[in-house]
Amino acid sequence: MVVNLRGRDFISTQEWSREELEAVLKLAFDLKAKQRQRIPHRLLEGRTLYMLFYNSSLRTRNSFQTGIFQLGGQGIYLTPKSVYAPALKGEEIAYKTERISDVARVLSRYGDAIAIRIYGEPVQWIYGKGDRIVREFAHWASIPVINMEDDVYHPNQAMADLMTVMEYKGRLEGKKVVVSWAYSAGVKPVAVPQSAVLIFTRFGADVTLAHPRGLELHPDIIEMAKDNADRYGGSFEISYDMDEAFEGADVVYPKSWGSLEFMPPKVPEVDERGMIDLMNKHKDWITTQEKLDRAKGDVIYLHCLPADRGMEVTDDVIDGPHSVVFDEAENRLHVQKAIMAYVMGGV
Ligand code: CP
Repeated sequence: MVVNLRGRDFISTQEWSREELEAVLKLAFDLKAKQRQRIPHRLLEGRTLYMLFYNSSLRTRNSFQTGIFQLGGQGIYLTPKSVYAPALKGEEIAYKTERISDVARVLSRYGDAIAIRIYGEPVQWIYGKGDRIVREFAHWASIPVINMEDDVYHPNQAMADLMTVMEYKGRLEGKKVVVSWAYSAGVKPVAVPQSAVLIFTRFGADVTLAHPRGLELHPDIIEMAKDNADRYGGSFEISYDMDEAFEGADVVYPKSWGSLEFMPPKVPEVDERGMIDLMNKHKDWITTQEKLDRAKGDVIYLHCLPADRGMEVTDDVIDGPHSVVFDEAENRLHVQKAIMAYVMGGV
């Protein structure tokens, strides 16, 4: 099937059809092979990607910037401090900010796509505000907008996760995939686990989401995951016991995230102390070899990175034979090149 994704925004995998996501994966595998063999694939010669980061990044920034370069284009790194901070209507400060509608339309006159990362402190941990800002850019831009992680979704991570699982396990039907909370002393957004349960249910896996009570994902995401499971022939269940969840797993994806119960709109302002007190009660949610032994003998261990070693996972697991975290990080490059090639008009 021929898909046309030219000009499309990529904000959540849920907004693209299964056929479109499969086309991206096919191209990603092809580009990975070409990159390995040093076969030129300059599909975006002369094109420009603007990358606006409100948060830190190692993988996302470098995989996008390297990726657009390998495709023959250039990536320009922007932060709210290096420009007039893009702001929503009503949140502007004279000569310090610039309304998003203006920023999006100006960049659309110069380049070929805008990619944005925004979650956590830059949006006062108001759940959904980062996603709203990405969508505000998309509304005004006449070039595609790519979500490099907001406070609801991290679609590029999800596509790299899926690509990695397919490399090791083939098709996902009949495979048990466990997306689990893990302990950390820091507060991380929910975008990665939310995007993971959506993509794995979309591709027919039997997904178990595990977390302590109080660390639920957003109810809208749970509904979408259940709907995906019904539609694509897999299953979706929730467990409150990490050990039990790991039993018989083909894939485990344990990572930390913060509690929506302590973030606006559930509370007037973010309560990081309350969140950390809750998380500190669950330091036993660490991935150890003992826990991994409950899974299948050929289980793979995923983590989007950065990992908090000694909290989320022990060194022997993340550096051990079941860990595929560096394949997963590498696949960010290949899958994002495929997404850029499609939406920026390279294929
Ligand atoms: N996984 C991920 O998005 O990593 P960075 O925060 O380093 O971009």
